[in-house]
Amino acid sequence: FTVDWEAGHYDNGGYEHYLLKEISEQPDTVARTLRGRLDDRFHIAHLGGLNMDPRESRSFRRVKIIGCGSAYYSGQIGAQLIEELARIPADAEPASEFRYRSPVVEADTLYIAISQSGETYDTLAAVQELKRKGGRVLGIVNTVGSAIARECDGGVYLHAGPEVSVASTKAFTSTAVAFALIALHLGRVRDLSPADGRRICDGLRKLPEQIKEILTQEEHIRTLAMKYADAPGMMFVGRVRGYPVAREGAQKLKEISYVHAEAYPASELKHGPLALISPELPTVAIVPDDELLDKNLTTLGEIRAREGRILMVGHRTADAADDCIVVPKNETELDPILLTIPLQIFAYHAAVALGRDVDRPRNLAKSVTVE
Ligand code: AGP
Repeated sequence: FTVDWEAGHYDNGGYEHYLLKEISEQPDTVARTLRGRLDDRFHIAHLGGLNMDPRESRSFRRVKIIGCGSAYYSGQIGAQLIEELARIPADAEPASEFRYRSPVVEADTLYIAISQSGETYDTLAAVQELKRKGGRVLGIVNTVGSAIARECDGGVYLHAGPEVSVASTKAFTSTAVAFALIALHLGRVRDLSPADGRRICDGLRKLPEQIKEILTQEEHIRTLAMKYADAPGMMFVGRVRGYPVAREGAQKLKEISYVHAEAYPASELKHGPLALISPELPTVAIVPDDELLDKNLTTLGEIRAREGRILMVGHRTADAADDCIVVPKNETELDPILLTIPLQIFAYHAAVALGRDVDRPRNLAKSVTVE
């Protein structure tokens, strides 16, 4: 298990840490992921790298997404986007599990492998197993010409530029954007209406400016990170679209600050983890303005009744929360992309406040090229 560290090759842009640089670059990196891929005439995404004609794009009955760690969590966002926009059953699974369970490989399933580095061994091994069994595999990869990119039948490059810090941020966000493009593409060759296609295209175009708006809140988020950083642990909760956001928020926090963080679907709290809620275990609640808003606000009340402190991330403030981070609203399907960004900033400042080695957290490698 090795720690590869190539930071010396890259300019830190005057930032104190590569992680902050990479978080701050996201308006540009998202714009690069989108560049040249949105079609204003038919309100579809052009993704020539998929190597599929419309008939083939219509032929899949299921989508299975694999990746490790944060790549897997971005895959959960992707599965929801594909189900919502293309109405194809989709789910995500850790590639590290998938490869060991002798998966049933079906001809009418589209497999999508995600990897920033393109070199993660578990993901590569899963792709190779899929290919050996005749599966059709696309890659969502950042590193051009990497092993996973070469192994796949086609795919989407992120064009996010080199990601140096061990914790993934800009690649995570660009992967979610790439999934929105794939979902738009698959949706528009199926039943997604031109009006909805246009709505999603317009929403995608707004993302870079909205990310800039979130970045202007860095000082507010830093103050919150310092307030909560001394907690022995944190709970992250979200429902449906908010759940992968909660998982990624918890992953970022534990990875770079070493604060124990658990992520749960908000609806699961009452099935066990509610017993953990106390003033010592603050909760980060992902509460977008969507059809589940009322349910989520009820959950905040339940946490509050157990004297749990609440940091809410959403599109409004709420009395039940001790603190709030309000992010700009986009189309409901695209909101998870924006909701994740304040959690990256929060984890970064918590790690700095605790004096951690932000770019090179202990025990971790940027790309895990071994079993
Ligand atoms: C993310 O912050 C982690 N460092 C880790 O979970 C990472 O996403 C995972 O190892 C997959 O890496 P990859 O995208 O390069 O395949």
